[in-house]
Formats: sequence, structure tokens, C-alpha cells
Amino acid sequence: MVTVGAMEAISLSMLATVNPGDEVIVPDPCFPNYIGQIMIAGAKPVSVPVYEENDFNIRAEDIEKAITPKTRAILLNSPSNPLGSVMSREEIVKIAELVEKHDLIVYSDEVYDRIIFDGMEYFSMAQILEVRDRVLIINSFSKSYAMTGWRVGYVVGDKKIISNMPKLQEGIVSCVPTFTQKAAIEAISGTQETVKQMVKDYARRRDIVIDGLNNIPGITCKKSPGSFYAFPNIKSFGKSSQEFAEELVREAGVVAVPGSAFGNMGEGYLRIVFANSDENLKEAIRRIAEHVKKKY
Ligand SMILES: Cc1ncc(COP(=O)(O)O)c(C=O)c1O
Repeated sequence: MVTVGAMEAISLSMLATVNPGDEVIVPDPCFPNYIGQIMIAGAKPVSVPVYEENDFNIRAEDIEKAITPKTRAILLNSPSNPLGSVMSREEIVKIAELVEKHDLIVYSDEVYDRIIFDGMEYFSMAQILEVRDRVLIINSFSKSYAMTGWRVGYVVGDKKIISNMPKLQEGIVSCVPTFTQKAAIEAISGTQETVKQMVKDYARRRDIVIDGLNNIPGITCKKSPGSFYAFPNIKSFGKSSQEFAEELVREAGVVAVPGSAFGNMGEGYLRIVFANSDENLKEAIRRIAEHVKKKY
């Protein structure tokens, strides 16, 4: 089903599958909109911590600890915003076993599935036949085709679930504007060379930003295997991520999002977007380095 961006795809997926009082498991840190979307559907978000030591990947054993009789669904997001991590096939298989055992639904937010580096494999839980009917794949034209403002996304899944979604969409937006749907058809049916080139550019920009951050004393940053986000650890400065981000914007003129905006586990980190020009990114790193040198 075609939706107004991935945002509507996620909201409709939740509205079509949860009842008030149900619990939905989300990673912490995660894209904050999920929390509001779960609450709009009348359900309760339950956060599962994601650790830097595990390369910022959610683990099946942590998910299992959060499952209760009220759990209805798990939201997975790989590659992750804000973490830049990509889930391994092995971990996804383990989570799929839990999904089957506890009779759950999975919202698999795959909007960055093509923005993946270093020949890393992209694996979706929907590739596992045993749980395929339980997985709702969420995707979008916003990231792979840089069409954020066009507002076209989609959800793919079992017909029994999807068939309820047009009834919900009708009362909210009626439909996705036809001219932006046509633009999306152009995007997917055209040559994919531009997407490949864009991914190459993101890989180079990732290196500029992450290698640059790792050269700044006091900052450490994992190399993101996917998405266009870096999630540097700034704990050594002894400031909250909100304070440090405000300081950067006021004193160095660099915008970064405090990690705490994405959940409690994000405290002590920043989220930096590297979807920008090489020149701007180099200048941002230079300014952060200068700021740190002056102040710490
Ligand atoms: C993980 C994730 N999901 C969904 C979205 C929203 O995408 P769309 O523009 O298609 O609504 C974003 C946008 O930032 C995102 O990072």
C-alpha cells in the first residue's frame, strides 16, 4: 500500500494491528516519532536498551526480557536512525524465533535499506518464510531517492492486515497525491545509477565525518555501516548531550542533535547527519575540533 511517506505507513501499520493497552517494543535510542505513533494507536511503548558495546545493535536476549503477555509487536529499524547500525542476519533470525514463539507482529522500518556501505549485506526479517506474514515492511522514497518532501512511502505485508489500511487512510489523508506517486514510479523504474552514486558519496562523507571525529581528543565514534548518521560518544566531556549540543550550536555554529532526544540510552552521544557537502562537513569537523581544543 502506498502511503504519505514512511510516517503514514508506520502509523497505519500500528492502527491496524494494536489494541488499546497492548505493548510495542522499540529500541532505545530510536527515531522519536515511533513513541508518539504507538501512543496515538492507544498502545504503550516499551524500550529495550541498545548498547555501544554491541555495535549499537538490538539483541534478541534484551528483547526477550521485555516481552510480557501484553506485547503485541516489535519495531525494528535497520539501518538505524540515529545509530547508523545495521542488524546482522544472525540476530534477526534469533528475533524471528521470539516473534513466532510469542505470536507477535514486526514493523520493520527499512527506509535506509539501500544506504549501506562496505559491501555489507542487507537482510530483512521478511526473508524468513516462517514469519513472513507477521512482518510489515515499511519503506519510503525519502532516503534512497532523496525525495523527502514528495511524501511517498509504502508498506508491504500480509493482505489480511494491509486490507484494513485504506479504510484508515481514507479518513486521514484520502490518498497520496497522484502526481507524487507518478514521480515515485519514475524514480523506481529509472536507472538506479544515481542511487549507487549517492551511496558512494555518503560513504566518502561518512569517512570525512567519522574519521574526523575520531581524531578529536575526547570523542570516539563507531563507523556506521549504513544510513547517513554518525553517533559519536562525547561522555568524556562531562556534559549532558543537550548541553554539549547547545554549546556547539552557539559557540561553534555546528548543529547536532543531542543523543538524549532519541531515548535515555542516547545520553552522552550526539547524532550528526552526513548528508551534506564534503566542504561543509570538513568545515563542521574543523569547528568541532577547534571548539574542543579551546574548551576542554
Ligand atoms: C528511521 C526513519 N523512519 C522513517 C522516517 C520518515 O520517512 P518519511 O519521510 O518517508 O516519512 C525517517 C525520517 O527521518 C527515519 O529516519
